[in-house]
Amino acid sequence: MKIIVAKNYEEMSARAFEVMAEVVKTNPQAVLGLATGSTPLGLYRNMIEDHKKNGTSYKQIKTVNLDEYAGLDENSDQSYVYFMRKNLFDSLDIDRKNTNIEDGTASDRKAECARYNALLHELQQDIQVLGIGSNGHIAFNEPGTPFGSETHVVDLTESTIKDNSRLFKNIDEVPRQAFTMGLKNIMNAKKILILANGENKAQAVYGLVKGEVTENVPASVLQLHPDCTLVCDEAAARLIL
Ligand code: PGA
Repeated sequence: MKIIVAKNYEEMSARAFEVMAEVVKTNPQAVLGLATGSTPLGLYRNMIEDHKKNGTSYKQIKTVNLDEYAGLDENSDQSYVYFMRKNLFDSLDIDRKNTNIEDGTASDRKAECARYNALLHELQQDIQVLGIGSNGHIAFNEPGTPFGSETHVVDLTESTIKDNSRLFKNIDEVPRQAFTMGLKNIMNAKKILILANGENKAQAVYGLVKGEVTENVPASVLQLHPDCTLVCDEAAARLIL
């Protein structure tokens, strides 16, 4: 694993953008695997700024997102489809038809997982952006998820519900289930870019980089990926330096 330790969040975001920009500029038709959450927002701001300043085009880019809350759609400002529009897609020249995410409101959840898996088999990610949960989850693959998993519906753990409740009016509004790409879908990406900032991620970053490769720490599977870059700030890197 390649490790880049940045001084702070701004530098982490700029370094992550360098990795992303190389993919987009080398292949204007690349498939980008994208993530939601607070961590990649700075990366997305860099992408928007570069698009506006330098005209980098996303017209032929395709995207696949990691996960979506069950029950929410783009009319909910807590949904991930809304998040992506507001924080990235609306500010790029990307064709919305080329952006993909699980349909949180699908009534047949099994069929929706099968649809998304089939799509992921067609659209191999040239790069997959990831955040990491304080419990070592990636996407909504919580501790104990099999490394061989594909898109599935999960019950969120109490720690994830608590972490994510800061974005909702109160904790009762956080959905208890979500659709998520599985660990096998994530590992299928040609390149992985995982980001982490802040002291509350230090233990998870330790598990990602130096811990045992175990399904108890989903991110540890990335130790087996041939092209994985971690960009984190000094606080998140505290236990690996
Ligand atoms: P965060 O979430 O970026 O909001 O910290 C990361 C994650 O849970 O994967």
